[in-house]
Amino acid sequence: MPTPDFHHVLAFYSRHPISRDQILASVKARRGHLDGLMPEDLFAYDQDHYGGLSVVDALAERALIGDGSQVADFCAGLAGPARYLAHKYGAIVTCIELNPHRAPGAADLTRRVGLAHRVRVVRGDVMRVPLGARTMDAVISQEALLHVPDKRAALAEAYRVLKPGGRLAFTDWAEHRRMDAADAASMWRGIAAQSVQSFAGYPQMLREIGFRDVAVEDVTADWGDILEERFAMYRKLREETQSLGTPSGDDDFYRSYARLVALVQERTLGGGRFTAEK
Ligand SMILES: C[S@@+](CC[C@H](N)C(=O)[O-])C[C@H]1O[C@@H](n2cnc3c(N)ncnc32)[C@H](O)[C@@H]1O
Repeated sequence: MPTPDFHHVLAFYSRHPISRDQILASVKARRGHLDGLMPEDLFAYDQDHYGGLSVVDALAERALIGDGSQVADFCAGLAGPARYLAHKYGAIVTCIELNPHRAPGAADLTRRVGLAHRVRVVRGDVMRVPLGARTMDAVISQEALLHVPDKRAALAEAYRVLKPGGRLAFTDWAEHRRMDAADAASMWRGIAAQSVQSFAGYPQMLREIGFRDVAVEDVTADWGDILEERFAMYRKLREETQSLGTPSGDDDFYRSYARLVALVQERTLGGGRFTAEK
């Protein structure tokens, strides 16, 4: 496992192709202006995970998110899922996001679409969540725990902030079989994966923390197709962000993404959706 290094994770997301500026540039290119933005104007661009809105629906269903649910989104990125949960389900969402550019970017996008009363962005680390115990009905997270060095600490924080009976639903990269050291190093350099948990390891960890009714879904097949589309999108975004003069990803990212596609195709890595109840 690479040495935990927040600097690399922060730097990765500070130059990530999906950014507040890129989202606004895409919306402006489509609408011609940024006046009177509605939440749905952003949804095609602000979901930084595999599968768009339908997989947020899948998490909402498993976490029993509804009108007035208090939800914490761990590693919320630019708060795309949070805004969708607030807009479609009436949830009240607290976003925990570490990156010093993404957290204010998330808050700015949320203000622009008039959802600041339902979506709060807190800059923080999911290993030490600045929320009170037993305050949340649901905790969600998408494609992010790979960046967190101590996943057990983050999941224990989810347990702590959930009310009794509260639901956890998250997706993450997971190993079908162990990556070799060269691939683990490539995933660290290219996509800032501190470590990747296994399909069996996550449920065991959740039960040890105290969660019950732990369920695992293998979404590798869905992710494989999306991954290739994503890779093509990143290449296109990279050209666009370069022409706009905004930060774009580096060569390591693109090389590692190609290797990631191969690791999924050979079923070393895959996607998992994990659900549990406190
Ligand atoms: C792939 S993005 C996912 C964003 C969001 N979940 C979505 O689906 O749109 C992962 C996010 O995790 C954040 N992150 C990484 N480590 C974190 C940590 N320890 N605490 C909070 N956020 C973290 C990154 O800054 C990044 O914005």
